[in-house]
Formats: sequence, structure tokens, C-alpha cells
Amino acid sequence: MSRDTLTIKDNRTGEKYEIEIGHGTIPSIELRKIKVSEDDFGLMAYDPGFKNTASCKSRITFIDGEKGILRYRGYPIEQLAEYCSFLEVAYLLFNGELPSQNQLEEWENQVNRHRIIPEGIADLIRNFRYDGHPMGMLMSAVAGMSSYFPEAADLDDLDVRHEQVYRLIGAMPTLAAFIHRHRCSLPAVYPDADLSYPGNFLSMVFKMDEPRYEVNPVLEKALDILFILHADHEQNCSTNSIRSVGSSRPDPYCATAAAIAALSGPLHGGANEAVLRMLAEIGSIDQIPAYIERVKNGEFRLMGFGHRVYKNYDPRAKIIKELAHQVFKETRSNPLLDVALKLEEIALEDSYFVDRKLYPNVDFYSGLIYQAMGFPTEIFPVLFAVARTSGWLSQWEEMLNDPEQKIARPRQIYLGEQARDLPDWKREACRAK
Ligand code: CMC
Repeated sequence: MSRDTLTIKDNRTGEKYEIEIGHGTIPSIELRKIKVSEDDFGLMAYDPGFKNTASCKSRITFIDGEKGILRYRGYPIEQLAEYCSFLEVAYLLFNGELPSQNQLEEWENQVNRHRIIPEGIADLIRNFRYDGHPMGMLMSAVAGMSSYFPEAADLDDLDVRHEQVYRLIGAMPTLAAFIHRHRCSLPAVYPDADLSYPGNFLSMVFKMDEPRYEVNPVLEKALDILFILHADHEQNCSTNSIRSVGSSRPDPYCATAAAIAALSGPLHGGANEAVLRMLAEIGSIDQIPAYIERVKNGEFRLMGFGHRVYKNYDPRAKIIKELAHQVFKETRSNPLLDVALKLEEIALEDSYFVDRKLYPNVDFYSGLIYQAMGFPTEIFPVLFAVARTSGWLSQWEEMLNDPEQKIARPRQIYLGEQARDLPDWKREACRAK
């Protein structure tokens, strides 16, 4: 009878080792038994970028990258985007089940009542250079919240812990909107309790001198869907950051600030911004072939293409592509859409992209919608952060509740100098003083 074990033969010693297989993985710590001598440290796994290492057990998000499947808590992303609100999905991610009507109302009340941010944080935002990158401002503002809510450091008090979750999900759109207004030299617009989560966000961003901001229901729904699509994505770079930083048990504001830092990079959440710059640089359809050639020559990457996990069309990109047409009926069409569509068509037929299984990812079309709605390019990663906060905090909560988790502390392969003495010239120079 076959057994769920792996037998390893160490050819250095001829020794054989049997290691249990569970969930298609082996516990790396078992490799340490494999030694050439008693004082040998034991074998380690080397895996830069965690390409084949599971860092946790999770019940939140499932991705089948080969088939292009994404599910939150078992529900297909397509159904969630069609039938749920973002706050409902945030509840699902955090609690594991969809809320009843009463539970949803209570959750919405809790989140909405935390939309106001401390005035000191608003002042902090006003003191940034108006043309600084908004992700730096967001990261600092979120970390700064830590100083206003010192009780957040008590991670063992569940009520206190969950209060910070409501506050972070509630306050994130306010922080994002205040940052946007500051960068435009416009006065901040405070939250409107009568508006939905995305509707209130649109109001805080775009309201001018009208007494009441009229929310366009198509744009409100589109933004809600974009938030759902960005809410979680299992162990991506920023989620790994909140888990890793959170493992030393800082308060959730500091841990979330770390995730925002990770998200800001152009290979992660900064990609939606980079896509728009790329499309603007290409400018017109006739320039695409020359641009693709430069990508293939390794000059730069095609932004919004490729994914560590998806080796098929990103299911989020499919939904966003469809959503773009709905949004453009309400707004002016985005002339860069034609460039994007043609770029996708050409890339998907080119053997460079086909062989490497490089398909459009979530960032390829989202920026076009944000731009049509009136958001400036630099704020796109901030919109990603607003949505992803719900996923980050769900993963952070799961990590805190997981008895198998330890402080994140990888090993290294040391290739530097062996022990050596300081040179004579250094000792003499010091003695001469
Ligand atoms: N354009 C051109 N070539 C690419 C691209 C791209 N966008 N992505 C990967 N490749 C090539 C890469 O050069 C390598 O080729 P070769 O085997 O000849 O050296 C091969 O494909 C494998 O690439 P990799 O760097 O080993 O793949 P990875 O899993 O480490 O990187 C990625 C994943 C998303 C960082 C990468 O595809 C990329 O840089 N894409 C562009 C940035 C982007 O759109 N990021 C958003 C990701 S989705 C949202 C999110 O999670 O934030």
C-alpha cells in the first residue's frame, strides 16, 4: 500500500530519510535531520521569492493559476462581483461566512462609524509636499494612526482588536480621499453618513461646491466591484508582508503600513499606475509592434502582464474588461482603451508571451477605468490599498489565530567572508589617535 511519505536518499552519506507528506507539502524543518555529520547544521530549502514554499495554511482565498480560478471562502469571484457589495465581501473574508442581513447592518454600522479620522492625521497629510507620491503619504498616515490608538497594541483583547479592523476598513477611504484632495490643493470633504462605502468615497474625492454630491450609480457600482476584485489574493507580496511584519506582533496600523509599503512597488500594486504610463508612452496602435519588440529584447516588462500564480487569463481582468465598457458609457471613453485592446491582442498571439504564459492581470484594465472616473494616475495604487485592507486584515487575523505560526525569520546561505582580523593599518590608525 502506498504511503504519504517521501523517501530521500542522501548520496553524500548513503543515508535514507522518510518525511511525511501533508497537503502536498513536506515540512521543511524535517530536512534538518539530513546531516553529513553530528555537528552539521542540517539541510535547508533554498527558495528566493518563495516560488515553491507555503508559508501558512489558509482558509481565505483559493487560486488555481493554471485554470484562472479565484474564490474567496469558496465563492467564485464572478458571483461575488455580481451579487455582493464590497462590505459584504469584506465581512465574508474576515469572518468566513456571508453575513445575515442583521450581521451585515451591524458590520456596516461599525465600519461606517469609523470613517472619521483623527484631525491630527488630517494635519499630517496637509503637511506633506503636495506633489509627493500618495502611497508614501498613505503609509505614513496609517502608521501615524498607531499613535492615536495606543490600545491597539493589545492584540489579546478581541474586542479591541476588532475595533481596529473596523477603523482601518472605515478610515482607509477617508485617508485616500484626504490625500487626493491635498495633492489637488482642495479642502478635505468629510464623510457623508448617508452614502454607501463607494458612494461616500466618490463624494470625498470629487465633491466641489454643490450642497450634496450626486453619486452616479453606475460608477458607484463599478468602484464597489473593483474593490471586491482587489480585496484579497492569498499570499501576494503585501499580504506576505502583513503576515511577516505582524508575526512580531506590532499593532495593526504598523502592520498595515508595512503592507502598503510592499503594495507600492511597480511589480505589485504600483503596476496599475505603470500600465497607464506605458499606454500613454505607446500612444497609438501603430507604435505597439516596436514596443513589444523592446519588451522581448528585455529592455523593460509589459506592465499589467504576467503573474506569479496565474498561468492563464486572470479572472479579475476578464471582469474588469467587461466593466470598462459599462463605465465608458457613463464617462468619456478612454482613448487608451483601443491601445490596450490591441496590445493585448498582439501579445496573446506572440510566442514570447504564449510560451511564458503571460496574460493580462488585474492591473491591465483597472487603471483605464479609474482614469475615466477622474482619478489621477498616482492615486491608483492607493485605491488598490483601500480595497486590499480587508484582505490584509483577514490574513492578519488568521495568522494571529494560527497556533502553528511563529515570528517570521528565514534562514540564509552565507557566502561572505569567513572570520578575519581587522587589518594592521586600521588598528594602528586607531592607536595613533
Ligand atoms: N513582460 C515581459 N516579460 C515578462 C513579464 C512581463 N510583464 N512578466 C514575466 N516576464 C518574463 C520574464 O522575463 C521571464 O522570462 P525568462 O524566463 O526568459 O527570463 C519569465 O517571464 C518569468 O518571469 P518571472 O520574473 O520569473 O516571473 P515572476 O513570477 O517572478 O513575476 C510578475 C511575476 C507579476 C512580477 C511579473 O510577471 C511582472 O513583472 N509583471 C509586470 C508587473 C505587473 O503587471 N505586476 C502586477 C501583478 S498582478 C497584481 C498584483 O499582484 O499586484
